[in-house]
Amino acid sequence: MQRILVLNSKGGCGKTTLATNLASHFANQGKRVSLTDYDPQACSQYWLSIRPEDEAEIQSISAYKQSGMLTTRTFMLRAAPGTDINIIDAPAAPDGMQLEEMLRHTDRVIVPLISSPIDFQATLRFLKTQLLSKLKAKRIPLSVVINRVGVHRTSLEQLTSQLTELGVNISAVIPESYLYSEVYSQGRSVFDNKFSKETDLLHHWQPLIRWIDNTETKLNLSHTDWVTWDANNSDALPEAQVNYA
Ligand SMILES: Nc1ncnc2c1ncn2[C@@H]1O[C@H](COP(=O)(O)OP(=O)(O)O)[C@@H](O)[C@H]1O
Ligand SMILES: [Mg+2]
Repeated sequence: MQRILVLNSKGGCGKTTLATNLASHFANQGKRVSLTDYDPQACSQYWLSIRPEDEAEIQSISAYKQSGMLTTRTFMLRAAPGTDINIIDAPAAPDGMQLEEMLRHTDRVIVPLISSPIDFQATLRFLKTQLLSKLKAKRIPLSVVINRVGVHRTSLEQLTSQLTELGVNISAVIPESYLYSEVYSQGRSVFDNKFSKETDLLHHWQPLIRWIDNTETKLNLSHTDWVTWDANNSDALPEAQVNYA
């Protein structure tokens, strides 16, 4: 079983969006998938609870609940036998013990990052002070996904160069799209049948999926036009600006 933790101490950066869509992607591939929700706001769990029965099945694990008198923590967190992929949706600002527990059950970490100055500063601080040394010690691979490109016009050039300096890989750039809230409210993902024609949208997930499948590790971000990308000009984005090495 491969276990993937979607993590950032910053709220609202897309952890649940990435976790639910990735879980559904792998489920649609015929894999046995479980989705663990560590966030007491339980947004992943809610999404699973409204997921239509005819969509690819995903097992729900509620890690935000305390284990009771009769259940051990290990029992609560267990995935069903035969599970291929366990996606873990982290809460914002996890405490030290929670972070340790999540990392104990993780093979890969994905950090979604919104390219606004505030989110960037918060994420850099989280990476430097809490995450990177732990991942290094445990030899857990890390990748950043830049999310909601188009809303914020921070210099991605600066952002990518600072991440590169830290030795952090960027595996995907996901543009802003109203469809992410639309699919969430239906208990679906952009990978479910109903949305499979949204190829422009799905295209941006491919390098992240390849990174998880371990067939690609590097995204070439040499095109930096997006620094001045105009959110109102949809022709400008990002297919031409994101080339994969
Ligand atoms: N690429 C995107 N385009 C548009 N909206 C997005 C995108 N990613 C996330 N969102 C929206 O941003 C909000 C926060 O995302 P969410 O996944 O809940 O973040 P987190 O789990 O980190 O708090 C939600 O309303 C979600 O629908
Ligand atoms: Mg969330």
